[in-house]
Amino acid sequence: MSSDTDTVKRRLAFQKSYSQEHGGGWRHRSLIDDAKFETATNQEFERRERFLSRGDSISEEEVFVQNGGAASPPAVGHKIHGVIVTVKEGVGNLTRVLRVIETAKIVIQHIESRKARKKGAQFEIFIQCAGSLEGVTSACDLMKQSPFVLDTEVLGEAETESKELWFPRNISELDHCTHIVTKFEPELDHHHPGYTDLEYRKRRKEIADIAFTYRHSQAIPRVTYTDDEVATWAHVYRTLKELYPTHACKQHNAIFKVLEEECGYGPETIPQLEDVSNFLKRKTGFQLRPVAGLLSARDFLASLAFRVFQCTQYIRHPSKPEQSPEPDCIHELLGHAPLLADPLFAQFSQELGLLSLGAADEDIEKFATVYWFTVEFGLCKQQGQIRACGAAVLSAYGELKHALSDVPEHRPFDPFKTAVLKYDDEDLQPLYVVVESFEDMMDKMRNFASQIKRPYEVQYDPYTQSVQLLNTKGVLHSVARNLKGQLENLQHAIDKIQAFSLDS
Ligand SMILES: [Fe+2]
Repeated sequence: MSSDTDTVKRRLAFQKSYSQEHGGGWRHRSLIDDAKFETATNQEFERRERFLSRGDSISEEEVFVQNGGAASPPAVGHKIHGVIVTVKEGVGNLTRVLRVIETAKIVIQHIESRKARKKGAQFEIFIQCAGSLEGVTSACDLMKQSPFVLDTEVLGEAETESKELWFPRNISELDHCTHIVTKFEPELDHHHPGYTDLEYRKRRKEIADIAFTYRHSQAIPRVTYTDDEVATWAHVYRTLKELYPTHACKQHNAIFKVLEEECGYGPETIPQLEDVSNFLKRKTGFQLRPVAGLLSARDFLASLAFRVFQCTQYIRHPSKPEQSPEPDCIHELLGHAPLLADPLFAQFSQELGLLSLGAADEDIEKFATVYWFTVEFGLCKQQGQIRACGAAVLSAYGELKHALSDVPEHRPFDPFKTAVLKYDDEDLQPLYVVVESFEDMMDKMRNFASQIKRPYEVQYDPYTQSVQLLNTKGVLHSVARNLKGQLENLQHAIDKIQAFSLDS
């Protein structure tokens, strides 16, 4: 049995590694981190499940920490429990409750939060923790004494986590894909430029709350941005617009012009997500939905499968206009929106999303990495020059100049290699991936995808906005019939063009 001192040391090591993994560095946070976090968490959980299913306790030598490889926190004889803590309404209550949890004698493995359903409550926090049932129960009692906690509940083991790989089958089910990674918010990340700015944090929360109540098919509520917020937008907008003709890819430049003409883009006003969403629907069928912060990689990629892009509405802190540690509306509107209006780029994004549905954790990690080096930080070759097509580059003027300079390494896109590249988010990128063209990027990605192990393929039906598993003879026959009809139609069109050419 471990001593209390050992337990405290392990807890401190765990918290340190947790912080380094998720709180260190204020640069743009990555989906890759989230995907790795999910992979590690699930592996850890499954390892414990095996023990728990045998009725065993966790042996010390077989337990590993999911974050950063530090010493394992669970003590011999401890088990994994799920706890739900309901936090009362009030600014900063979530942070206060997290501090209470830190003082409780439990070892936190994983935390998630969601909007509370109970009246008078703000958040529900799900905590996966290691400890004895007695210890976890007494920690819950301690939390209940906090004036910020409405209720706590210790879940049964079966409810702690499901092994089933659920994924949305219909676009409406994206209402369940709102798994926020809370660790990078200004309340929690002391590297965030808004960490000490209570006014900013309050405003950010006010806007982010829109996403918590949003449901599929609703119009996205409009935000009345303040003069200061518009000033931040205007500064970034004007600076980037000067760079775009020489730094952005031709697709971005062409659509940016249309966005200015048709969608209210300009330095004076921050465009509304609803208007941009309607614009995208007309161009590529993509649509936006508001999100309260950084989503888990699995949920974010799943939304792409339905041509839905989850978008933040709040804006970065004015002290750091050149960059934001978390996605903000500047990043979404100037970086992502233009390329989502390009048919090939939109198709590439959706296919990545479709590949992620029901995929194994390690494959999600690979897709998130490919996404990171293409959709977020990608460069492309155009007329003998290198141009930016990644949203994180196109929405940060420091990064944009740096990316196209001679300083970083430029490496050709090869998804087999790109999918396992390491990523450094402490400073400007030392390495960028360059695609030959969007067509080439798509072809290589499809070839890569064919090597991924998944017991079935999926297909998106735009008429019903749903995903179909291609896993029965009946379904395959139906798809084949439709394809046959389309091919015949194509052949008739070719015949008619040839006949017309001969006649003329
Ligand atoms: Fe992004």
